Parts: sequence; structure tokens; C-alpha cells
Amino acid sequence: EKGGYKHFMAKEIAEQPLVIADALRHYTGGGQSLRLPEELDFASIDRVTLVACGTGSYACHVAKYWFEQIAGLPAEIDIASEFRYRDPVLSPASMAVFVSQSGETADTLAALRYATGKVAQVVSVVNVPTSSIAREADLALPILAGVEVGVASTKAFTCQLTVLALMALKAGLDRGRLTPEAVAKQLAVLGTLPGLMSATLGLSDAVAQVATDLAKAQDILFLGRGTMFPLAMEGALKLKEISYIHAEGYASGELKHGPIALIDAQVPVIVLAPKDGLFEKTVSNMQEVMARNGKVLLLSDAAGIAEAGAGTWKTLTLPQVDPLWAPILYALPAQLLAYHTAIAKGTDVDQPRNLAKSVTVE
Ligand code: M6R
Repeated sequence: EKGGYKHFMAKEIAEQPLVIADALRHYTGGGQSLRLPEELDFASIDRVTLVACGTGSYACHVAKYWFEQIAGLPAEIDIASEFRYRDPVLSPASMAVFVSQSGETADTLAALRYATGKVAQVVSVVNVPTSSIAREADLALPILAGVEVGVASTKAFTCQLTVLALMALKAGLDRGRLTPEAVAKQLAVLGTLPGLMSATLGLSDAVAQVATDLAKAQDILFLGRGTMFPLAMEGALKLKEISYIHAEGYASGELKHGPIALIDAQVPVIVLAPKDGLFEKTVSNMQEVMARNGKVLLLSDAAGIAEAGAGTWKTLTLPQVDPLWAPILYALPAQLLAYHTAIAKGTDVDQPRNLAKSVTVE
């Protein structure tokens, strides 16, 4: 059942190149053009509101950056348990998107019901196509991750990101921001991800080595800018879920507004920094950590490590990836770090204490 792996989580991490390739195949015509349902039309939408819980909410957070950057479409995000109690101002011309692996999360389902009738279209992005959140939406987009057993969500996250990426491209096309040729170009780049993911999974042994040290920490910080900010939060959530180590993800620029007070030689700081337009800024935040004896683990590509790796505690070199789609790739080392740290601590990876796979109560 675990296909030769020790844990479902390990199997599900390893499956990602395959399931991402499947999802891309399903939603594109030969990898050249988008094949999303006709009803998914962003042309006359004035805003997209993305709602989810936990890992799904970090996928929404990444998608907010994509919708705004790629399609110039205002996007707002909320966690489902807050959304419906804050009297959200919903435009009747907006689209509300609910993201859920299980499709049964109580807060997300209630948020979907709250939005129904108040917005132009309710869309769900789900893994279980027969779920309540799939059935009650005007339109459900399956993420095609296959059954996910591990309580810590892994392949569902990267499949959610993939479907949201394709939606953002569709929004760019529908709104005249992208030509069909520009979309085809981005699809070709997305098509390289499964190969890059396989290469990234090759870092597993190196991650396991770092994890023996991380397992001794009391607190761990994750830092990132742009789409690496939600990835930092996802990395921290994954780590606390299965290793029970206290971890927080911060936007790098927020460091000096508080969390830098936590830094000492005992606190590992994991910096997610592909060599993109924000790299120099993230590195300068990282150097502030190093100046206070912080133990920095830098995750970047070869160019980034060559430029900024000196003086860090450890580095992990990922393949170079288009910065726009980097979150789909950087999810993998975040998952591997949590997995190997939990293994080093001897905690129950697939069934962590106090947690359920599907949270069907508020
Ligand atoms: O099934 P859902 O995607 O609606 O679940 C939402 C969260 O409960 C879920 O992502 C949770 O945070 C995971 N255990 C994270 O690994």
C-alpha cells in the first residue's frame, strides 16, 4: 500500500513529479494551450476571493500573487474560519474560490455556503471530486493528486498550486493580459517542473543530514519574500505538525519588526531564496540573522548559493527554476525537511498527535 516506502508521506512526496505531470496533461492541450472548463471565465470578474484552511490557505496566498501579477486581477485571501464571521464585502461581480484537499473541511464548506448567491461564481479546487465542497460549488476543478493518506498534506499542495497557476494564466488570457503565445510559453515552462521536481527529490539524503541537527532545535524560523513568504509558512506548518518543533514562517522584511529578537545561535533560520528579483533583499535580511549568530540554512539555486552561501550554516542547492513557478518546486524541500526532522525525532509521521486528516467540525 505504501509502495515500498516507510510512510505514506514519503510515498506522497515522491509521487509529485507524476501527479503534477498528470494534472498538467489533463488541463492543457498537448502542453500548448489551456483546457479549463468554458464556464471558468475571468473576463467580467472584478475580483477573486480565495478561501481555505491550513495548507490550502497557503496555496491561496501564492495564487493571490499570481492572479495579481499575471492577470492584474485583484485577489484577496482569507482563512475559512475568519471569512464568514467578518462580514466580508463581496462584490456580486467577483469569483470566490474554495480550496480543499478533502472537500469536507467544515469551515471551508460553511464559507462556500456563505458566499453562494453573493458572488458571480463559486469555484472549488478539490482533490476528492465527490466531496461536499466539490458538489456544492458552481464549478469544481479536481486537482488530480490521487488519494492522500498522510495527515501532512504534500502532493495535494503542489497540485493545488498547479491548478491555481493554470487558473491565473486563464485569467491573464481572458483579461487580455496574455496572448495565447505567452500562455503557451508559460505552459512550456510549467512542463519542465516534473523533471525539476525529480531532481529536487534527489536532495533527500542531504536534507536528512541537516535534519539530524534541526531535530535538536526548540524553535525554527522560515523566511521568504514574495511567493516564498507563504512557502515559509507552509514549511513551518509542516514541521510543527509532524516533528512538534515550534516553527514560524515570516516575510523576510518583517524580521526586524519583531522576530529578530528571537535569534541566537540555537535558532535555525531556514531561508527560501531562489535567485529572483527579490533575492538581494532576502539576502540582506539573512545577513542580519547571521550578524546575530543565527544558524542559517539557505535554500537557493546554484547562482544564489554562489552569491550568498558564504558564512551560512548549511546550504541546499535546488535546480534553477523560473521564479514565477518557484513555489511549486520549493514546496518539496520544505516537505522533506519536515519529514526527515520528524524521522530524526522518532515521531509518528503519518498520524501525528491531535490531528485529523479531515477537520469536519468548526
Ligand atoms: O482537506 P483540506 O484541504 O480542506 O484541509 C485543510 C487543512 O486541514 C489541511 O491543509 C491541514 O492544514 C494539513 N494537515 C496541513 O498539512
